[in-house]
Formats: sequence, C-alpha cells, structure tokens
Amino acid sequence: FKVDWDVEAAEKGGFEHFMMKEMYEEPKVIRDTFNPRVKNGELVLDNINITKEDIEKLQKIHIVACGTAYHAGVVGKYIIEKLCRISVEVDVASEFRYRDPLITDKELTIIISQSGETLDTLFALREAKKKGSRIVSIVNVVGSSIARSSDDVLYTWAGPEIAVASTKAYNTQLTALYLIALDFGLKKGTISKQEADEILSSLREIPSGIEAILEDKESIQKFAHRHYNAKSIFFIGRSLDYALSMEGSLKLKEISYIHSEAYAGGELKHGTIALIEKGTLVVCPMTQDALFDKMVSNIREVKARGAVVLAITQNRHKEELEKTTDLVLTIPDVDSLVSPVLAVTPLQLFAYYMALEKGCDVDKPRNLAKSVTVE
Ligand code: G6P
Repeated sequence: FKVDWDVEAAEKGGFEHFMMKEMYEEPKVIRDTFNPRVKNGELVLDNINITKEDIEKLQKIHIVACGTAYHAGVVGKYIIEKLCRISVEVDVASEFRYRDPLITDKELTIIISQSGETLDTLFALREAKKKGSRIVSIVNVVGSSIARSSDDVLYTWAGPEIAVASTKAYNTQLTALYLIALDFGLKKGTISKQEADEILSSLREIPSGIEAILEDKESIQKFAHRHYNAKSIFFIGRSLDYALSMEGSLKLKEISYIHSEAYAGGELKHGTIALIEKGTLVVCPMTQDALFDKMVSNIREVKARGAVVLAITQNRHKEELEKTTDLVLTIPDVDSLVSPVLAVTPLQLFAYYMALEKGCDVDKPRNLAKSVTVE
C-alpha cells in the first residue's frame, strides 16, 4: 500500500498556486501586523523607540527599498507627508547607495524589505548609517541582515511568502507604514487623537474588505479571459492611486510578461496619450475622492481615442463610473487615505488571471528571484 504524497500540493493548502494562497492570507496577516500594535486604542510599536523629541528635531525622512517594497515606500511618502508634515524622499536602493545621498544626523531612514536580505537595500542602509542617519526598518524576516543592522525594527507578520511575486507582504508593509505615520504624527502633534482613531478604525475594516474582494473574483477573471492578448497595458492614477498603479503594473509584468507602465494621471498629456489607440487597455485605480473628477477627465481623454478602461473604485462611485468605463471593479467603501491596502488586491488578482490565461508559471516567473542577494 503506497500513499502518493505531494508535499508542494499540501503546502499550497488546496490552492492551485502559492500566489493565490498568499492573497487569501492577506486579511489574517494584516490583522497579525495591526492588532498587537494597537492596545486599548493606543499605539504600541514594539521595537521602535523614537521619542517625541526625536521626531520634533527630524528634518527629513528617507525611504529606501527595492521592487514591491519600494512601491510600498511610495505610498509611505504620501501618508507620512500628509500626517506628519515632514518631507519624505523615496529612492530605489540601487540608486540611493551610489549617488552619495545628502543625509544628516537630523534625518531618519526607513528601510523596507520583505526578506531583509536584498543586497542593494542592505548596502543602502549601511550608506545611510555611515552618514549618521538613524535606521528604522520594516522587515518580514526576524533576525535577517537588515533587521540586525537597524536601530529600530517594525516587523510585518506576513509569514513566509513563497510566490516570487510579492502580495501579502505588500499589504503588511503598508499597514506598518500607516502605524509609523500615525505614531510620528501623534508625537509631533500634526494629527489629533481623534483623527488617529478614525484612521485606525478605517484600517481595522481592511481585512474584511479584502475577504469580500476575494469572494467576488468572477468579473476580473472574465475580463482577463477577454484581454490576455494585450501587448501593452497602461496604469493611470493620481496621488496614492499613482503609487498603487506602480505596484499593479509591476505585478502584471512580473508574472504575465505583458509590457506595462504606470503613469500619473496628470502626465497623460505629456506623452502617454500618444500611445493610446483603439483597444489599448488602461487600468485606472480611482480611490482618491479629492481627485476623482480629474481621473474622470483622464478616462474621457483615453476613451475618446478608443481605449478599453478598467476602473477600480469604492462601491460609492460604481454607478457613476459604469457609464464611462468598460468594467468597474469595486472595493468596499473605505476612506481614501487607507484605500491602497485594500485596492491592491484586485490589481494582484488581475495580474494573476492574466498570467493564468497566458499559461505562465505564476509562482516562478522567468528570470526573477524571490530574494536578490547579488548585485
Ligand atoms: C525581488 C522580488 C520582489 C521584491 C524585491 C525586494 O525582486 O522578486 O518581489 O519586491 O526583490 O525584495 P525585499 O525582500 O527586499 O522586499
């Protein structure tokens, strides 16, 4: 009597791919990252020991990372600048480390890395440290090189991520960045306790929102079935949706090998529009209420040139957008400020189904490695 035991299938827990399994873990890992840090309404950021005085003398924050972690950093820039009124510069690690960056001891560097071992990110950390900057890292692997080299660490509790394309780690990196922005903002006095509580309660709703998105994948699947032959896809967004567009575009190219670019909506007229022709697919995350009308104008401009538009927005805007787009994917109604944590999931699903339709190896895309520990 012999039992056929497929270890990999067992590890995938009934899912066809690790990537899908890991997207299903997003609600849990966001809760694991968030819940222990908010006790009785107060923020408790375990290994971050930055005081009110430290924050008050800060003149600038640098965020440095690679790949998906870098895109989390771009979201971080928007939210830290908004909530803490401190100027934030975001760099990809390989640019930062070689450009002799201007850093003083009145500046703080936030390093983001899932593995904690990316070589360029580690060397960027050392460069910032050498120049006197304090290092706060957001890392997923306890005891990793980046965690060990940092002054303060906030762990993301995403658990092991097997699929090369990062999904759940990104959601937890964003969660960590919101917690840091709230902590600094409260200490600096740039946000009130009431404002912080409102943002915390919006963040608390994210996991169940992702559960709802994962329940309703059919329309994304059908859309991918119709459009997987696309040669080039544009992602257009404004503000936090621009940051999100970068991640959506990266996810798509990583696993489906479709050429894709992310543009700020306002830049459309400065180049991209020349590339829009009949049938060009344009993906528009539209979760920023203050910029909604501006995005509607962008959609009109690309539609007038024959583009096919996929919009991603909160339920509250669905009806309005149905008239002007080809498909509206909705996310539960959530505050614009925290929307990237929720709105990234439909973009991950979109990339997943496009790759699946094309017959790509979703978990192990060609030429890519999970952790880049060489130059
Ligand atoms: C590689 C992976 C990406 C990841 C990037 C940064 O390119 O394929 O998924 O975002 O490295 O990795 P890190 O471990 O530093 O977050």
